Amino acid sequence: MRQISRRDFVEQSLVGGLAIAGAGATRAAAFGARARSRLADAHIELLLDEPTGTIAPEIYGHFVEELGGVVYDGIWVGENSKIPNYNGVRKALVDAFRAVRPSVVRWPGGCAADDYDWRDGIGPRAKRPRRTNFWANDPSLKKLGATPQSYDPNEFGTQEFLRFCKLVQAQPYLAVNLRQLPPRQFVEWVEFCNSPAGSTSQAELRASYGDREPFGVRFWGVGNEAWGCGGDFTPEAYASEFRRFTAGGVHDFGVKLAFIGSGPNGGDLEWTRRFFASMAERNALGRMWGWALHHYSNAPDREALAFNTTNWYECLRSANQMESLITSHWQVMGQFDRDHRVKFAVDEWGAWYRQNTNVDPTHLFGQQSTIRDALVAGLTLDTFNRHADKVAMANVAQLVNCIQSLFLAHEDRFLLTPTYHVFAMYAAHQGAQGVRALFAAPHVAWTDAQQRPRELWGLNGSASLNGRVLTLTVTNSHATDARDTEVALRGGSARSVKVTTLSAADIHAHNTFESPATVTPVETEISASGSTLVHRFPAASVTKLRIELS
Ligand code: AHR
Repeated sequence: MRQISRRDFVEQSLVGGLAIAGAGATRAAAFGARARSRLADAHIELLLDEPTGTIAPEIYGHFVEELGGVVYDGIWVGENSKIPNYNGVRKALVDAFRAVRPSVVRWPGGCAADDYDWRDGIGPRAKRPRRTNFWANDPSLKKLGATPQSYDPNEFGTQEFLRFCKLVQAQPYLAVNLRQLPPRQFVEWVEFCNSPAGSTSQAELRASYGDREPFGVRFWGVGNEAWGCGGDFTPEAYASEFRRFTAGGVHDFGVKLAFIGSGPNGGDLEWTRRFFASMAERNALGRMWGWALHHYSNAPDREALAFNTTNWYECLRSANQMESLITSHWQVMGQFDRDHRVKFAVDEWGAWYRQNTNVDPTHLFGQQSTIRDALVAGLTLDTFNRHADKVAMANVAQLVNCIQSLFLAHEDRFLLTPTYHVFAMYAAHQGAQGVRALFAAPHVAWTDAQQRPRELWGLNGSASLNGRVLTLTVTNSHATDARDTEVALRGGSARSVKVTTLSAADIHAHNTFESPATVTPVETEISASGSTLVHRFPAASVTKLRIELS
């Protein structure tokens, strides 16, 4: 985001005139008075004639790992369960998930992917092997003694996952076991999923288990976190494995296969530089579609609920680092991939806290999700939107009962987290044309635990255009102060504005099974005309303005 002089902005806005009439304005919105712009302490300028790139729907992607309560208890309840289900998949989750237009879902990991044999998860369920789950050694699971979460019953395998994707109308993204299995198994997995009906033995096997038609899986992750749980490789050794897995032998069956390389842990620029250098040396970068950046945000106290205001800001600052991670790795990638063919697949992101608020002890890395997490989601998704030319896919970690989830579920109880509501609000950006948005707002400043001065943008956001509908999404990170903001449209004028606000008086507000709608969006409608409006963005809020252009 570029910051413009506040004075220039106000003057230009006044010349543009304030002509939006306030009909139905609420406590959250005030429109239509020329004098009001003088009261605004923040400004947003939307340059409709400056497109920044199409926002890939895949930026609004998800992640499901064979871990804790994600698959079992979260998604898969089984066909014979009394919990309403679609062929074994929790009905409430499917119904709610569809509504956010999930573009892509990654599975089976994560670290679990490099421990997973796809052949275990096909065929009659009763005959599938029960394996020790990759995460069984985690101290918090071990401490529980014998628990089903230490094992993988393989009831939810390749076909259950691919049918789940069909059900929610998302593309599947499969992560390949590079650490333990040979490339042969990768090639056969592709064949099992994609070879045409009747063509190969794998296609016949698939048909005999219920799916005659191929699934056309396009996205394939070649390992995961190869610098760590995925094999502890050096960048050069991993590049060599990547080439071995993708050289020549992967049949595409008419699908434009997209291979995703295991990218850096946060700011490890050396991992990116050495991997890209090694790939460039063998002229192999053309085989890659995506580079998988991972970034988990946090605050020093790592508390999901019991945080103070300093840690509210520290967590948002950590989430906001996504911006510099994208630009710094992009610059390194460009040294070897001059045309920037390879884009980012940020296939793990989210706020990850200490495990002391999970809804069930077996839900490894389970945590509650507050309005702060809604801000983390909004900040991050806005960052991706602004870098639509660089980010081709992103997957929030994880879908349910783990890290920054959209859903919490246990037995027959189920809820939508504040993060879910942000995905619902931001769905309008999917496939839209990003347009330049300039923000000018007083910075949010605080002092961290080491007495260092810190600051964040006062307002953050992104905008996109889809036909005559302009979507502006904005986060106000300030824990206590609302921002009266002038929003100016350059190159268009508004006919009507719908405002969706997700906010809470208490920065710890969250949804529970007993009180599932504590943090829930509020919608207001404003009839408007003209090119400028004034809106009050509440403290600690995520807001969407759906502006219909005349
Ligand atoms: O999302 C949980 C874990 O975090 C994933 O399995 C791994 O890739 C990352 O370290």
